[in-house]
Amino acid sequence: MDLNDILVHHAEDRKNYFNAVAPPIIQSSNFVFDSIDDLRSKISDEINHHVYTRGNNPTVQILRKKVAELEHAEDALITSSGSAAVAIAVLAHLSAGDHVVSVAKPYSWTTKLITQLLHRFGVSHDFVDATNVDNIRSAIQKNTKVLMLESPNSLTFECQDLEACSKLAKEYNIITVIDNSYSSPIFQNPIDFGIDLVVHSGTKYINGHSDVVMGVVCGSKELITKIFYSEFMTLGVNISPNDAAMAIRGLRTLNLRVQRSDETATKVKEFLHSHPKVKDVIHPFSDDFPQNELAKKQMRGCGGLFTINLNVTKKSQVYQFVNAIEKFHIAVSWGGYESLIIPSIAFHDVPGVEDSPIPWTFIRFYIGLEDADYLITDIQQALNAIE
Ligand SMILES: Cc1ncc(COP(=O)(O)O)c(C=O)c1O
Repeated sequence: MDLNDILVHHAEDRKNYFNAVAPPIIQSSNFVFDSIDDLRSKISDEINHHVYTRGNNPTVQILRKKVAELEHAEDALITSSGSAAVAIAVLAHLSAGDHVVSVAKPYSWTTKLITQLLHRFGVSHDFVDATNVDNIRSAIQKNTKVLMLESPNSLTFECQDLEACSKLAKEYNIITVIDNSYSSPIFQNPIDFGIDLVVHSGTKYINGHSDVVMGVVCGSKELITKIFYSEFMTLGVNISPNDAAMAIRGLRTLNLRVQRSDETATKVKEFLHSHPKVKDVIHPFSDDFPQNELAKKQMRGCGGLFTINLNVTKKSQVYQFVNAIEKFHIAVSWGGYESLIIPSIAFHDVPGVEDSPIPWTFIRFYIGLEDADYLITDIQQALNAIE
């Protein structure tokens, strides 16, 4: 379906709500039935009817249908967070005694899901350097049920060859799940490469305004229906109708926002590449990125995230840079209108906690919707503050 149709028209049935342009927020937990037969037929197909908002609310359903189309999927579920989306997509295929293969260094709460929560229920795991698909092959065991991918990841941007991963997984009857938050559906559609389930932190680009926490899971009707009637309904990870309406509004500008972040990030990273106080810029579409060719094969763009390695020798110099920057907030997350930085040094020297494997000289940038010159001027003066 044409992207314009998805963002402007798809799944909106305006004649059913007074020809209102914006869909109504059906702020109701519950739906009534005309008769016993009506109740019986709807409750037996709850995923497609409105019975109770923990399952299927009309406002959320509009969002669900749009997101499924965006990811070239047959169906989707909207969840209360990206972490909930990852958890239900993975849990749905596991029982005690099963095994998960995951990319090394997935998002931190995905790591905790695998190492702590799944571990408590007798599911074992291996993290592998999945930049080489042979490492995945070597880690597969008889009881491997899920391959967890994140391509690129959101800090150092390692990619996986999605076509090769899905082929391999199919050989062994393993379900592939990918966290596609980095690229958004605008720049990468893993289902086109044979991946089974695509999850997003919808908190990032999909909502796009830093005011809703939400997630999505996209896949075949069969897989989504299976997850709906098990993890989705039992764990109760639905989004509220109000937040769904916010996300539908956010989606109207998804393409504009992601393209704009991508264009501005490209200009900012080009400035940084040539600056003497910056050793490296890590960005999948940069010529010196080791997987540049693969990234360009799978992705149509990168969006607003990249990481720099400051060319400094003392920790105090990182503080000088970060303390001088004015137009970027120091914050986790990304995908909103506002530019952000997150210095790795914050995850070093924490009493009683192991240092992050990401060097303390690394700073991740998220480029929002401001003008490139405005951001470059600010970065320039902050780099000048390094003694
Ligand atoms: C790559 C990635 N995946 C998943 C998540 C989890 O999403 P949420 O915060 O919406 O639960 C995040 C959040 O930062 C993330 O960066």
